[in-house]
Amino acid sequence: MKALVLAGGSGTRMRPITHTSAKQLVPVAGKPVLFYGLEAIAEAGITDVGLIVGETAAEIAEAIGDGSRFGLRLTYIRQERPLGLAHAVAVARDFLADEDFVMYLGDNFLLGGITEVVEDFRTGARHDARILLSRSADPTAFGVAELDGDGRVIGLEEKPRHPKSDLVLAGIYLFTPAVHEAVASIRPSGRGELEITDALQWLIDHGRSVHSSVISGYWKDTGNVPDMLEANRSVLETVDAVQEGYVDGASTVTGRVRIGAGAKIVASHVVGPAVIGPGTEVIGSSIGPYTSVSEDCRIEDSEISGSIVLRGCVLTGVARIEESLIGRDAEVRRSRGVPTVHRLVLGDNSRVQIAS
Ligand code: TTP
Repeated sequence: MKALVLAGGSGTRMRPITHTSAKQLVPVAGKPVLFYGLEAIAEAGITDVGLIVGETAAEIAEAIGDGSRFGLRLTYIRQERPLGLAHAVAVARDFLADEDFVMYLGDNFLLGGITEVVEDFRTGARHDARILLSRSADPTAFGVAELDGDGRVIGLEEKPRHPKSDLVLAGIYLFTPAVHEAVASIRPSGRGELEITDALQWLIDHGRSVHSSVISGYWKDTGNVPDMLEANRSVLETVDAVQEGYVDGASTVTGRVRIGAGAKIVASHVVGPAVIGPGTEVIGSSIGPYTSVSEDCRIEDSEISGSIVLRGCVLTGVARIEESLIGRDAEVRRSRGVPTVHRLVLGDNSRVQIAS
């Protein structure tokens, strides 16, 4: 069995982060979201992985290399344009050959792994495809599945106004080679993409068996900022306290906080769960719970909570930042002059909420 991991796409919902970097590499509790998926695949005993990459191919390759550190053998597959999830399957046709495969969306986050469901697909009753489903309080934002009493999928709808169930597609799919005929038969949707839901619907309409597994653990599509922050919160709940950096006598560290090597906490309060990346300096500041600060940042005279800060950021004299995603090498400083003004240099599609 092989795996196909999708790490291309256009990432419009995560702009401006995705103008310069891959959304799949945004860290959740200090680790890129894509790494969790690759680890789950390795844990399930799959080693042969095709990685779909687009414009951010170089950055993804730099972060992941040949996959050997995950115990995987990676084949990079370039998708020239993000023309849909089913298009990615078509582009990977040669790599996939005639083997079963698990397709994993690189920005989807699942706690608890896929080992059991992969094992069941390999050895259990034979189906043409199996989809992972998660219960959602608001299914209207997702692909929604309708099942019969045995867990067989009888219909799929993309973002329905009146959903037929609360079971939504969780971004992880198991396929036999039967999917290739479906992918070759469908046409682009209204938004111009080859949709995997259409390929699945094609299988159902042609009498193939599409089964489902409802996952009980935490799942999140991290495709937008609030969901990314929520995934960060959930994973931080599982973080252990580790102190590899330096904490001075005037600082307090409460709860589960992971402080990376070479990090310095000086005259500050850090309340867990939180992660402070290697080489980051926190001076005279308060880092609130549910915050992940990446490596080599400097946070001085500032307060921040519920946020993700990417590497190389500088925050000086700002109180207080909440529920924010701050991109690499960004700077936020308090202006000391009179009159009090906001001076902004924002990238395209940036979003800022100011308190005054
Ligand atoms: P999506 O989040 O559905 O699409 P997107 O990345 O284009 O984002 P947005 O809707 O904000 O513009 O994609 C799910 C995953 O699949 C994500 O990791 C990107 C990847 N992907 C591809 O690799 N190729 C594609 O053609 C598409 C549409 C997505």
